[in-house]
Amino acid sequence: MRLLTGIQPSGDLHIGNYFGSIKPMIDEQDTNEIFAFIANYHAMTSVNDGEKLKQLTMQAATDFLALGMDPNKSTFWVQSDVKEVLELYWVLSSFTPTGLLERAHSYKDKTARGFATTHSLFSYPVLMAADILLFSPEIIPVGKDQIQHVEIARDIAIKFNNTYGDILKLPTYRVDENVATVPGIDGQKMSKSYGNTVNIFGEEKQQQKVIKKIVTENVAIEEPKEFEECNVYNIAKLFLEEKERIALQERYIKGGEGHGHFKLYLSEVIWEYYAPYRQKREYYATHQDEVRDILQSGAQKARNAAAEVIEKVRSAVGIAY
Ligand code: ADP
Ligand code: TRP
Repeated sequence: MRLLTGIQPSGDLHIGNYFGSIKPMIDEQDTNEIFAFIANYHAMTSVNDGEKLKQLTMQAATDFLALGMDPNKSTFWVQSDVKEVLELYWVLSSFTPTGLLERAHSYKDKTARGFATTHSLFSYPVLMAADILLFSPEIIPVGKDQIQHVEIARDIAIKFNNTYGDILKLPTYRVDENVATVPGIDGQKMSKSYGNTVNIFGEEKQQQKVIKKIVTENVAIEEPKEFEECNVYNIAKLFLEEKERIALQERYIKGGEGHGHFKLYLSEVIWEYYAPYRQKREYYATHQDEVRDILQSGAQKARNAAAEVIEKVRSAVGIAY
């Protein structure tokens, strides 16, 4: 089955991104056909600094390769390297009622929060529909916030197909209920926009500092401690095998250790877990030309995969002659 996903290069990746989206996708590379791209056009709706966008795009590519994205198994590219997506975006615009976009939650939400709204923010779902429909994937794995965008892509595809015949394949979203929402250091959902993240690739000292700030209940050292609702435990368990989890639970129940000890343990666990990935990251960080080559071949693969749809679309709408 073909799965497609886009990731905006809009900041440092955190462990919520890792367990919620990156790891599940990387684990599926052997069983499914993965199409994954860095959505740099989409990131322009929030990043308005050219140098910064370039840097974040390369950083996202480097991080993904380090974390196990395998360009031999999957198709991995940067959105702007397949310009056909902009062509399809324009074509689809003629099949997108403005009312559909006015009802988009993410747009309404940003407008309500007083963001200076732009046309790119308004038409964001149309570009996302083009990202999807260009490659005819069966499944779009998404977080809950992106369901509506996939539904919009379906609506647009239906309208287009009603006029021109069965050219665009209707995608289905998949929300993985097993994928836990990773809590941030304050116990809310971990998110860049809440400033409560533990990043995947950071300095060790900095990471320890952040982990020390995790909010925990106030209980005397000798007392037994609750683990099920504890933010430190709930982050730690993502990294632990069953046996290690039970051992940690026992330390909570036994008493005699404070949350500071558990935080120290968590810092070590996270640091160790990402050690092999850090090593790979170091390699790619010092071989950026290799990363660019990988992205270029990925774009070529993606372009080949897009050729059939874009040609059918051009021919159907009459922009070929
Ligand atoms: P952020 O909220 O930090 O801006 P994004 O919206 O860019 O993160 O999310 C990118 C991907 O990571 C999405 O697939 C999203 O579902 C997933 N993700 C983000 N935060 C979490 C979290 N706390 N727990 C699980 N998955 C998450
Ligand atoms: N809007 C998605 C997000 O913010 C990113 C994205 C862009 C995407 N194009 C896509 C996701 C196509 C899936 C399919 O997370």
